[in-house]
Amino acid sequence: MIDLRSDTVTKPTPAMLDAMAHAEVGDDVLGDDPTINALQERCAAMFCKQAACFVPSGTMANLLAIRAQTEPGDEIICHPESHIYHYETGGFAAIAGCSIRFAQGERGIFDADTMASLVRWDDDHCPRTRLVSMENTHNRGRGSVWPITTLHDVCERAASLGLKRHLDGARIWNASIASGESLCDIAQHVDTVSACFSKGLGAPVGSIVAGDTKTIARIRHLRKMLGGAMRQSGILAAAAMYALDHHVDRLADDHANARHFADGINAIEGLTVDLRAVETNLVYFDVESHLGSAEELVQCFNDVGVKTLDEGPHTLRAVMHLHITRTIVDEAVVRIARRLTSLRDHGAGQ
Ligand SMILES: Cc1ncc(COP(=O)(O)O)c(C=O)c1O
Repeated sequence: MIDLRSDTVTKPTPAMLDAMAHAEVGDDVLGDDPTINALQERCAAMFCKQAACFVPSGTMANLLAIRAQTEPGDEIICHPESHIYHYETGGFAAIAGCSIRFAQGERGIFDADTMASLVRWDDDHCPRTRLVSMENTHNRGRGSVWPITTLHDVCERAASLGLKRHLDGARIWNASIASGESLCDIAQHVDTVSACFSKGLGAPVGSIVAGDTKTIARIRHLRKMLGGAMRQSGILAAAAMYALDHHVDRLADDHANARHFADGINAIEGLTVDLRAVETNLVYFDVESHLGSAEELVQCFNDVGVKTLDEGPHTLRAVMHLHITRTIVDEAVVRIARRLTSLRDHGAGQ
C-alpha cells in the first residue's frame, strides 16, 4: 500500500526508535525531563524566541497560543481556509471563546491592507480584534509558502494596530526549505509560532510553541489545564530531536517528489494539477467529473494500493513524506494511470 494521504502517516524509523529507547527522562510536569528541556531550549533558539513549550499536538499548540493571547469575546483574523478554522473542532470558540473574521486571499495568503480593513473600531458594540493567525505552509492553500515580505508586512501592520500575531507553522520546516528563508526570519514578527514534529519530520507525536517567556509560562499553565502536561515525555522529545538532526534537509526530496508526482499525474488523461501551485510536499489534483466523484476515485485508487484524500467534489490530495521514494512515486503514478484506463474502458464504478 502506498499511503499518500498525509505526511502524518509516517512511522518512526529504527534509528528514531533507538534514540527514543535511550532517551534520558524525568517528570516533565515537575520540569525534570532533561530531553524535553533540551528540546524546548533548542526550539526557542531555532525560532529566535525566549522560550518554548512541548505539547502533544499541533491542534493543542494553536489552541494554547490563541487562548494565552486572547480573552473570551475577542475576535481573531485568519484566512477562511485556515486549519484553526476548519480542522481544530472549533476550539478557538469552544475553549478560547473567540470569534473569527476572515481575511481573503489566494491560497491561504492575505495582505496587510486586507487584514487591516478587518480590524474592528473601538466601540462598545464590537468584539475586540485581538489576534491575527497565519499558516505557513498553508495546508488548504495546497502547501503554499508565504512570501516573506507579505508575512512581515502583515505582522508589522498588525503590531502597529496593537494585535497579537500567531503563526501556525505545522509545516514551517517545509516553508523554510522551499523558500530558503531561515526559521528566525519567518517567525521574526510573530508573538507565537507553533510547529509539528509529527508531519514532514516523521516523529510519532509532538509539537512545539515558541514565544516570549511570559506567554510561554501562560501556555504551560493552560497546557496543564487541558490535560496536555505529560510526565516522562522525553521519549517523545528524543524522537523530535532525532528528526531535527536527520529529517529536515531531506524535506527538499519531498518537494522534488511532489513536483515529479504532479508532472506524472498531469500527464494522465482526465487528471489536472495546477503545477504552479506545487510549492512544497502537497499535491492537489482535479478529476474530470465523467470519471466519477473524488470520493469514488479515492476508493478506486485505494483498490490498486494508492491511498489519497478526498478534498472536495472533484479534488484529491496526495502528500509526499519520509516513506515515499522516487521509485514509489513512479509506481503510484503507474497504478493510478492503469486504474483510470480500466475505468475508461469499462465505465466508471468498475
Ligand atoms: C497547518 C496545520 N496546523 C495544525 C495541524 C494540527 O496538527 P495535529 O494533527 O498534530 O493536531 C495540522 C495537521 O495536519 C496542520 O496541517
